[in-house]
Amino acid sequence: MAAARALATLLALAAAGSALADEPRLKPVRIVSRVRQEAPDPGAGVEALGQSAAPLSFDYEPLDWWSDWFNPIKPEAGKKQKTTIHVSNHGDTAVPKGTILSIWANRTTPAKCGETGDVDYKLPELLPFQTKAIKASWQMPDTPGEAQVRVFLDSACTVFSGSADYVQQSFTTTVVEAGSKYVYLQLAILNPGSLWRLLVVN
Ligand SMILES: *[C@@H]1O[C@H](CO)[C@@H](O)[C@H](O)[C@H]1NC(C)=O
Repeated sequence: MAAARALATLLALAAAGSALADEPRLKPVRIVSRVRQEAPDPGAGVEALGQSAAPLSFDYEPLDWWSDWFNPIKPEAGKKQKTTIHVSNHGDTAVPKGTILSIWANRTTPAKCGETGDVDYKLPELLPFQTKAIKASWQMPDTPGEAQVRVFLDSACTVFSGSADYVQQSFTTTVVEAGSKYVYLQLAILNPGSLWRLLVVN
């Protein structure tokens, strides 16, 4: 009986979820940067690296990043929003420490190489195929309204000259009045495992 009720609740949630799909403000805020060039043939990058005079310059983007959910999902005016950003090196060469990760709380236009963010994090060394988690936070504007949080990995472009195009991304969030209460409905993807867990809990 409890199980049947739980299932009915799930179905109701699923219906609510599909109705919400048209609501632009409720775009998922977990962002994944996956615009990537083709990696060159094995060996090509290594050869180019040997000839490079720059501190470290790949001829393809070796970095990638993704984030956890931004928290809170609708930040309050003048308060902080935070997340964990996972930075990954897919290249076959270590990326030395000091790569800069820049974040702007509200920037609508793309940033160029060398610009600094509202906050800038210096990353630790990243060995080939290593991923590191960076806890990041930034202060939202003092006024409510829409804001575009922008994340730019390798903003000094010391690792790759094209990082502004390949590992920079923004997402839209809504800054609410300080002290606002709101409900955010999130529908988990239902696979047999998660459905089973939900039924047990109920
Ligand atoms: C974010 O920046 C845009 C463009 O400058 C501006 O119109 C908007 O009001 C800003 N949003 C907030 C919440 O301050």
